[in-house]
Amino acid sequence: MHLPLTIAPADAAAFDVVTCGLNSLDFVAVVERYPAWNSKTRLEQFDKRPGGQMATAAAVCARLGWRARYIGSFGDDELGTIGRASLTDEGVEIGAAWCVPGATSQFAVVIVDRTSGERTVLWNRHPGLKVRADQIDPAAVTSGRLLIVDCHETVAATAAARAARAAGIPTIVDVERVREGIHQLLANIDVIIAAESFPAALTGYEEPGRALAALAAEYRAPIVAMTLGEGGSLARCGSREIRTPGFRVACVDSTGAGDAFRGGFAAACLRWPDGDLETIMAFANAVAALNCRGLGARGGMPTLAEVDALMAGARP
Ligand SMILES: Nc1ncnc2c1ncn2[C@@H]1O[C@H](COP(=O)(O)OP(=O)(O)O)[C@@H](O)[C@H]1O
Ligand SMILES: [Mg+2]
Repeated sequence: MHLPLTIAPADAAAFDVVTCGLNSLDFVAVVERYPAWNSKTRLEQFDKRPGGQMATAAAVCARLGWRARYIGSFGDDELGTIGRASLTDEGVEIGAAWCVPGATSQFAVVIVDRTSGERTVLWNRHPGLKVRADQIDPAAVTSGRLLIVDCHETVAATAAARAARAAGIPTIVDVERVREGIHQLLANIDVIIAAESFPAALTGYEEPGRALAALAAEYRAPIVAMTLGEGGSLARCGSREIRTPGFRVACVDSTGAGDAFRGGFAAACLRWPDGDLETIMAFANAVAALNCRGLGARGGMPTLAEVDALMAGARP
């Protein structure tokens, strides 16, 4: 099954991929096991690490060798300085991102259960970071060959996706929650990549395949998919269902797995624009699995050689 997207050649755009949405600084707290309510637990490790869905997806693409641009809002604080440096150090361009005077940058407390590597996120977003549709610069969001948005601010994400679509640029969404404005957003998306609980929450169908089929029919997205944690992913394209197993890795921290998956998906589309969707889904799963090797949303971001080795059967 060939990738049903038309991606412009490299020389037609300044960037390969543009991401628009959240960045975050994560305060990562590692405990042996997730604590019981009203208990005391020893903190094994505590550190601050850059994250946020779209910032991380851009960093993952850059690590894999693509020209990536991130667009979103930072506060004018130390967290923002660290967040911006984390991106530019990785080679991500942030010239169209902005700083909000008086706002605290988005941050989160992330509790990582060392035994499973699974994470629980407590997030904070200053109201001043909100992105209005009129802050979306059409020239910036159409400066890549692919656009990825998240679903946190649906009005702004819809404006970005509309501009990209009008310019013939395929749009990818990272969608995790049913929010106001979600229908308009999804109607402007070519590749819907949902978190595990989203398709059922939106469509009412508990069976994942049926829920994806309903999403595809409603929004006319050529590809709809959902990630299933260590279980991999399920995608639907036309009338085909593609089940892709997860790769086995020693999961240190699953924070950012979903962000890495979207970044990996975009990177695979750029690498194989006429490629096989099965291979592209496997690549996205491999990138996401490897990302779980290290602490923090970007602690395990793989190089292309590492992804290729895992796909060829090497043990991570
Ligand atoms: N423990 C794990 N082992 C291997 N791969 C994983 C693991 N957890 C997540 N992944 C990979 O990351 C992808 C996204 O993870 P998932 O947990 O579904 O997303 P999120 O929790 O970020 O919404 C999965 O499709 C899978 O490829
Ligand atoms: Mg998960």
